[in-house]
Amino acid sequence: MKLLAIVGSPRLKGNTNYLVEQTLEEAAKLGAETEKIVLSQYAVNPCLGHDNCASYDTCRQKDDTGWILDRLCQADGVVLATPVYYYNVSAQMKAFIDRNYFLYMHDRKSRARTLGIIVVAESLGIEDTLHTLRQFVDETFEVNEDKIFTVCGYAGGSGEVKNNLPLVEEARKLGQQMVASLKMES
Ligand SMILES: Cc1cc2nc3c(=O)[nH]c(=O)nc-3n(C[C@H](O)[C@H](O)[C@H](O)COP(=O)(O)O)c2cc1C
Repeated sequence: MKLLAIVGSPRLKGNTNYLVEQTLEEAAKLGAETEKIVLSQYAVNPCLGHDNCASYDTCRQKDDTGWILDRLCQADGVVLATPVYYYNVSAQMKAFIDRNYFLYMHDRKSRARTLGIIVVAESLGIEDTLHTLRQFVDETFEVNEDKIFTVCGYAGGSGEVKNNLPLVEEARKLGQQMVASLKMES
């Protein structure tokens, strides 16, 4: 059982990364194989927009996105996590979302059967950010509604979320829910 987290925050010791670690730790305790990919650590460039993906076997944009998308396709569960930047997902997450267009144009789908969404804001913009992620999820994955779990809340300074104990607990529960929903089907 493979759980992959895609993280859109460049702050390695920040709030989003911390919550994701809680989720994955909990999932690992229950037997999941976990992996966290922090997008800022890799080259995930914006879509080139030629809209001609179907003519090519590999994306024209030569960077790390190809193997990250392969991992996304192979994961049984996917966590998408982002801080709110100007009322929406971070630029790193948006670039990654756009690059999924290659999969879409090749009719390739992730095998994921459960989805986790984590969003952290200082004060405003969670709704718009969730809307963006949900639109992406609905276009990209074939996951039943009851297997999509959302954790969102507020924290500002790097790592400040550690003091938001209910939110930390929700992130841990997310790991449990995702594993439970995968175990239920087997
Ligand atoms: C470029 C930038 C834009 C931001 N825009 C918003 C915003 O629109 N609304 C908000 O509540 N917080 C905003 N924030 C604050 C972050 O969402 C907040 O600090 C969050 O905890 C960062 O998560 P991280 O520690 O995982 O990076 C912004 C921060 C940055 C750096």
